[in-house]
Order: sequence, then C-alpha cells, then structure tokens
Amino acid sequence: MKVLVTGGAGFIGSNLIRLLLREAPELEITNLDKLTYAGNLENLADVAGLPRYRFIRADVADPRAVERVFKKGFDAVLHLAAETHVDRSLEDAAPFLRTNVLGTHVLLEAARRHGVGRFVHISTDEVYGSPSAGEFFDESAPLKPSSPYAASKAAADLLVLSYVHTFHLPALILRCTNNFGPYQFPEKLLPLAIANAMENRPLPVYGDGMQERDWIFVEDYCRAIHRALERGRTGEIYNVSAGTPRANLDVLRALLALLGKPESLIKFVEDRPGHDRRYALDSGKFRKELGWTPQNDFEQALAATVEWNRANAEWLERCRSGAYRNYYRRHYTQRRKTLERWQKS
Ligand code: NAD
Ligand code: DAU
Repeated sequence: MKVLVTGGAGFIGSNLIRLLLREAPELEITNLDKLTYAGNLENLADVAGLPRYRFIRADVADPRAVERVFKKGFDAVLHLAAETHVDRSLEDAAPFLRTNVLGTHVLLEAARRHGVGRFVHISTDEVYGSPSAGEFFDESAPLKPSSPYAASKAAADLLVLSYVHTFHLPALILRCTNNFGPYQFPEKLLPLAIANAMENRPLPVYGDGMQERDWIFVEDYCRAIHRALERGRTGEIYNVSAGTPRANLDVLRALLALLGKPESLIKFVEDRPGHDRRYALDSGKFRKELGWTPQNDFEQALAATVEWNRANAEWLERCRSGAYRNYYRRHYTQRRKTLERWQKS
C-alpha cells in the first residue's frame, strides 16, 4: 500500500513515519514536506535510507508541485502538514491560512482527481474552543475556534467534510489533544521548558498557569492514526485523547521534579491573548469503534520525554541555534537529482 504523509519532517509526522516503517511492513511511505522552520529531516535520519521510505520537498499549497507528486499514485494520504504554533498565528496568520486552508484544499483536489482510496485529515481539539470546568467535548460540539491557528484548522475540517459530501472523497478527520514526546520542536511548552530547565533558565508560564491541556504521548497518537488509516469510516470525525487534563503548572512542577530543578525557575509572564482556558475531549467514539486505548501512562511518558531530551541535548541545541537547517543541504543535495528523476518519470 502506497501512503503519502504530508508534514512528515515535523514532530508527530516523524514519529508516525518511524512507527509505520517499524510496525506496518506492507506500507511504502512518501514524505512530502516543505521543510519550514518546524521541519527537520534529522528527525528521520535513522530511517532515511530504507527502501520503503522516500522524502520529497514540496509545498502542499503549490498545486503544480502537488500534482507532480500525486502522479506517482497513492492509495492513501495522511495529511499532517500545517503551521501549528498558536503564538506564531497571533503574530502573523497569513502562513496559517495559506498552508492549513489552501494547502488542504490543494491536497483534497489532487486526492479527488487521482482517486485516492483514503484521506486521513489530522485536525485538532482547538477547533472546539474551550470547554468549561469538568466538561469534555465530543464530536457533536460546535466549532468555536479562538486563535487564527484554530480557525484555519476548523476551516480545513469543513473543506474536508464538503469533499466527502459533494465528491464522495473517502476522507475522515481526527481531532487530537496536545501531544508530547521525542522530536518536539522547542517552541512548544514541554520541550521549551525542558530545554530551559536543563540550562537553569526561567520557564515562562502564561497568566496564572492554571490552563488545562489533555496531554497524550505521541506514540499513542501515532498508533491512533495508523488505526484510523486501517479502520476509520469515511465521513466520520473522531476525537482522540488520553482524557486526563492537567493544569500547566502541575505539569511543569512534575517536570522540574524529574530534572531535579527548583520550582523557583517558574516565571509567570503576560498571558497569551485569547488563551483557551481548557482543552478536554471525550474520545469514547474512537476507542469503542476502532478499539484503541492509549498505552502510555502520563508520568512515565513524561519521564521518558525528559530522558530523551537529555540524551539528545545536541539535537535540542541544533534546533535552538538553527543549525538543523543545514542538514537538508548536507545530506540531500546528492539525492536531489535521483528524486527529480523519480518525480519526472
Ligand atoms: P510541526 O509544526 O512539528 O510540523 C509541521 C510539519 O509540516 C513540518 O515538518 C513543516 O515543515 C511541515 N509544513 C508546514 N507547512 C508546510 C507546507 N506548506 N507544505 C508542506 N509541509 C509543510 O507539527 P506537529 O506538532 O507535528 O503537528 C502535526 C499535525 O498535527 C498538524 O496538522 C497539527 O495541527 C496537528 N496537531 C498537533 C498537535 C500537537 O500537540 N502537536 C495536537 C493536535 C493536532
Ligand atoms: O491542543 C492541540 C494543540 O496543542 C495543537 O493543535 C497545536 O498545534 C499545538 O501547538 C498545541 O497548542 P497549545 O497552544 O496548547 O500548545 P503550547 O505548547 O503552545 O502551549 C501549551 C500550554 O502552555 C498553553 O496553555 C499555553 C502554555 N504556555 C505555552 C508556552 C509556549 C505557557 O504557559 N508558556 C509557554 O512558554
């Protein structure tokens, strides 16, 4: 089965590709990624030479480039490529609209024209906005996005549903909560806090730090995506979550304890504008229909994530300094000609 993964050089995408190559020998994987600041091919260095894996640098919002790639013929698309950082969307929403909305449209069109048999669209819990204390949103909750990022993802979801309804595209949507784990770019709360704490630098906490997020270990989510590829039903929306929301402050305190660092590193800073107080999903439908449950306990997975960042301090440092951007030039210029021949053939 030939699978196109978009955004495979990012955090979830690289974990997903590694898991699929390891656990699904029947899959042949092409990774289409633009390599924005969030795309890092170092994340996949250990699998780059495998015959069942191929990387292609392209922009999902470029119809001609996408068309060239789709001509190779794919049985399924796992669409993860996106601009993903809420704070960046508050600075400049334009790249979010281009990639998350237009890019999704370009892919849907290509998938429709080329008769792709399955399109799994990776969305987010942020499309629902913030539930009140104790409340868990299921898939029937109305869309109420707060940030330009969340609004762009909600727009993409509606486009996907319109392609199912009007063109019978065999697509489905996954809405997941906050992921954490190896290879997460250190702009997001957990890897940023780990990196800062390791250097005894302050951990910025927005507002009062009592916002809740429903953390899930990335490996559990990647297994959920694999399950959706195999068994998800066309036209359905599935929430995916661990179902155990925690306050940011509690998570940071646990992290500092794991690192043996003092809580005095916590530094309260100005709140994020429009900050959603809480994310919490009811993922009962996905669990029941697709027989999935998260395998990893939060505390153990957090400890493993801290350990991974400790053991990969050089990776973290290259992310922070920007040196990771040289990786593509150093390792892919020779392969580029082969890839261009493959694209044209
Ligand atoms: P990420 O920011 O780590 O990676 C995004 C990847 O997309 C990068 O490799 C980047 O180069 C690529 N990309 C960006 N614009 C592109 C374009 N125009 N064309 C091709 N590639 C492009 O993101 P992530 O955290 O791995 O998230 C992956 C997906 O999961 C996103 O769709 C995101 O909305 C969704 N999601 C993430 C989380 C989370 O907690 N990380 C939770 C729920 C949903
Ligand atoms: O909920 C799923 C979403 O999770 C994904 O769709 C997004 O792509 C992903 O970025 C993430 O969004 P969040 O805004 O929840 O993640 P972030 O790591 O930026 O922030 C987590 C919480 O921590 C949030 O309440 C804001 C807070 N925070 C974040 C940063 C970066 C801080 O208090 N300080 C910080 O420095």
